[in-house]
Amino acid sequence: MRRKVIAGNWKMNMLPNEAISYIEKLTGLVKDTKNEVILCVPYTDLFYSLMQAQGTNIKIGAQNMHFEEKGAYTGEVSGQMLKAIGVEYVIIGHSERRQYYNETDESVNKKIKAAFENNLKPIVCVGESLEQRESGKTKEIITTQTRLALDGLSKDQVKNTIIAYEPIWAIGTGKTATSEDANNSIKEIREEIEKIYGKDVSDEVIIQYGGSVKSKNAKELFETSDIDGGLVGGASLDPEEFSKIVNYEE
Ligand code: PGA
Repeated sequence: MRRKVIAGNWKMNMLPNEAISYIEKLTGLVKDTKNEVILCVPYTDLFYSLMQAQGTNIKIGAQNMHFEEKGAYTGEVSGQMLKAIGVEYVIIGHSERRQYYNETDESVNKKIKAAFENNLKPIVCVGESLEQRESGKTKEIITTQTRLALDGLSKDQVKNTIIAYEPIWAIGTGKTATSEDANNSIKEIREEIEKIYGKDVSDEVIIQYGGSVKSKNAKELFETSDIDGGLVGGASLDPEEFSKIVNYEE
C-alpha cells in the first residue's frame, strides 16, 4: 500500500517569525499521523523552518531550484545549496513557475535530475489549463508532461519522485476537480508511467492531487484508489486547517 503524502506549498507567504510559530503549532497537531507531512516554504524561511522542525515528523522542502550546481546565475539557488542546509524535498515545475517564469518541460527535467544528484526528493507538478481541458486535451497534456519530466531517470529515481497532478484551473480558484475526475487523471498518469517503467514502478510512485484542497474535501479526494495525498496551497497557510487535511481520516 502506498503511503499518503500531504505537502503544504506556502508560495510567497510567511515571514521567518510566522514560520516558526506556525511549525510550533503544527507540531502538536500532526504528531500522531501516519501520513507524511511536508512544508514547502520560501527560501528565506528554510533555515528557521528546518531548525523548528527538528525532532518532529514535519519535513521541509523548497519551492524551486536551479539545475546548475553553482555559477553566474544571479538570484538563483542550487540543489547543492538546499541539501547543504538539510532540505529534503523540492517542488519542481509548479504551474505558476511554468506560467510566469518560463519553466519548460526541458528545464523541469534538468531540475529533477539535479535534485536527485543532490539527494533531494522532487515533487513534480503537471496539469492542464482550462482551455486544454475544454478542448479534450487533458490526457495528452498530463501524460506528455509526465513523460518529458521523467525522461532519462532510472526506475529507482522514478519510484522516489512525487508527482502532483494540479489542474491549473483548480489552483487558488476554489474550484476542485471532482474526486472521480482527479482520480481518473491520476490513473492516466500512473498508466503512462507503467508503460515506460513497468508496473513495479507505477504501483509505487506517489501521485498527489493539488488544486483547492481543503479540510472539507480532503477525505473524499484522498480515499480514492489512486490519489496518494495532496499538494495544498491556500489551505496550508493556517496550521489548524492544514492539520485537518493531514489528519483527514479522523
Ligand atoms: P491551492 O494551490 O491549494 O491554493 O489551490 C495548490 C498549489 O498551487 O500547489
